[in-house]
Amino acid sequence: MTYLLGLDIGTSGAKAILCDSMGKVLASARAEYPLSQPRPLWSEQSPADWWAGVRAALRETVARAAVPVAQIVGLGLTGQMHGAVFLDAQDQVIRPAMLWNDQRTTEECAQITELVGAERLVAITGNPALTGFQAPKILWLRRHEPDAYARVARVLLPKDYIRLLLTGDYATDASDAAGTLLLDLRARDYSPELLSAMEISKTWLPQVYEGPQITGRLRVAVAEDLGLPAGLPVVAGGGDNAAAAVGTGVVRAGVVSSSIGTSGVLFAHSNTPALDPQGRLHGFCHAVPGQYHLMAVILSAGGAFQWLRNNLRTIAPGLSYDELTALAAITPPGAEGLIFTPYLSGERTPHLDPLARAAFVGLTTRHGIGHMARAVMEGVVFALRDGLEIMRGLGVPIDEIRATGGGAKSPLWLQLQADIYGTPVATLAAEEGPAYGAALLAGVGVGVFADVAEAVDTCVRVAGVTAPNPANGAVYAEAYAAYRTVYPALGMVQSSVTVQR
Ligand code: XUL
Repeated sequence: MTYLLGLDIGTSGAKAILCDSMGKVLASARAEYPLSQPRPLWSEQSPADWWAGVRAALRETVARAAVPVAQIVGLGLTGQMHGAVFLDAQDQVIRPAMLWNDQRTTEECAQITELVGAERLVAITGNPALTGFQAPKILWLRRHEPDAYARVARVLLPKDYIRLLLTGDYATDASDAAGTLLLDLRARDYSPELLSAMEISKTWLPQVYEGPQITGRLRVAVAEDLGLPAGLPVVAGGGDNAAAAVGTGVVRAGVVSSSIGTSGVLFAHSNTPALDPQGRLHGFCHAVPGQYHLMAVILSAGGAFQWLRNNLRTIAPGLSYDELTALAAITPPGAEGLIFTPYLSGERTPHLDPLARAAFVGLTTRHGIGHMARAVMEGVVFALRDGLEIMRGLGVPIDEIRATGGGAKSPLWLQLQADIYGTPVATLAAEEGPAYGAALLAGVGVGVFADVAEAVDTCVRVAGVTAPNPANGAVYAEAYAAYRTVYPALGMVQSSVTVQR
C-alpha cells in the first residue's frame, strides 16, 4: 500500500491528512495560529506561524497514521487564496502577510481598474479588482511602505511560501495564481499586459504549474525534521476552494457544489473559461489541468443563522442549533411571507457591495422566532440561488449539486437547497475539506491515479440524495421573486440614512 499527504494552510490553522491509495483517510491533525487585525480593515498573519503550524500538523499526522514512512509517496499543497508574502533577495519575510480578507486596498483596486479598464480586466483575469486579491496589495506596499517595497525580490501566495520552505522552489498552481489578478485565464500564465500596466516584475512571481504537476522534492533537512522521506515529491496543488472541489468530486462539467459554512460558496466546474462579464462570479482556473471554475461567494450563510442563535441566547442561554432548526422545521415553507436578506457583512455575489445590509421584511404579529429562523435559512439559500441563476444565465450546465459544509449535515438545510435550487442535492460519504483534494492531486502527480477523474472515481462516493419537493418549489418560486425585490428597494432606504460600517 502507498500513502499520500495533503496539507492545507488555512486561515485559522494548518491541517494535514494522510490517506491510502483508495482515498481512505488514516490520520489527520490540525495546528491553529492567530490572525492579527492591527488596524481597521487590515488582516495579517505571520508566515513563521504558518510554518510552525505546518510542522506540528505534519508530524502529528505521520505519528498518528503509524504507517511505514517510506511508503508515503506524495504531498499536495493547498491553502487560503489571495494572500501576499513579500520576500527579500535572501528569501526573508519582509513584513506580515496580507490576507484574502484584508480590505485596505480600495484605492489600489480603483487605480488598477483605471489603468487596465474594467471590461478588459474581467476579459483577461475573469474578475474585477477586488480588495482581497494579491495584485492590489503589491500596489499598496509600493505606495504606503516604500522602504519595504524597495527590498522586495519575490511575492508568494501563502501555500507557495510553505512550498519554498519545504522544497526550495518558487512555484504555484494555476487555480491559486488566478486569484492574484495577474493571470491571463486562457494562457494559464501571467499576463504581460497586466504586469506592464501595474509595473510588476515577472521575476517576482513563481512559475505556474498545473495542480497535479510535481514542483519539487522535500529537502533533506526538512525531511529529517518532519520524519518524512527525503526527496518526497511535492505537487503544485490548488487554492482552497479548487482543492476542496477535487476532494468532493466537482471535476466534471455539470457538477456543482453548494457549501454552507460561515460563508456560502457555489462552485461550478467548467471546461471553458465561461466568464461573467459583470464580474459577479469569480472566474478562476481549476486545479484540474486545463479546466476552469466559477464561484459565487456569499459572506453570511451559516454565519447568519449563528448570528440569530447567538442573539437569542442572550435571553435563552441554552438554545442549541438543533432546537432553533426544529422551530424552523415546523414553520411552513415561505415562513408565511417573512423574508430575510442575509447581507449582515455586506455581500460579494451578486451585488459586490460591501455596504449591503441585511433585513427582515414582512413581519406581522403572526410571526415568531420559528418564522425568523426559517426566513434566515431560506434567505441564505435564496442568496446562493442568485449565484446559481447567474451560472445558468451564462450557460454553465448544472446537472448535480453536491452539498458540503455544515449545510450538508442537517436534513432541513438539505431540503431547502433541493427545493429552492429545484435540483436534487447529493451528500458525500466523507468530507475532509481542501487537504483531502490536495492529497488526491499528489496521487495524480506521482502516478497512483492516471488523472484527476480517476482519483475522484476511486475515492469520492455519494452517500445520499435529497429530491426537491414540487409543492414546496411552487411556494419558493413566489418567495424568491419577492426576495429579489428587497435589495434594490433597501438600497433606496440605505442611501437616505447614514450607513454604519
Ligand atoms: C476565495 C476566498 C476564500 C479564501 C480563504 O476567493 O477569498 O475562500 O480562499 O479561504
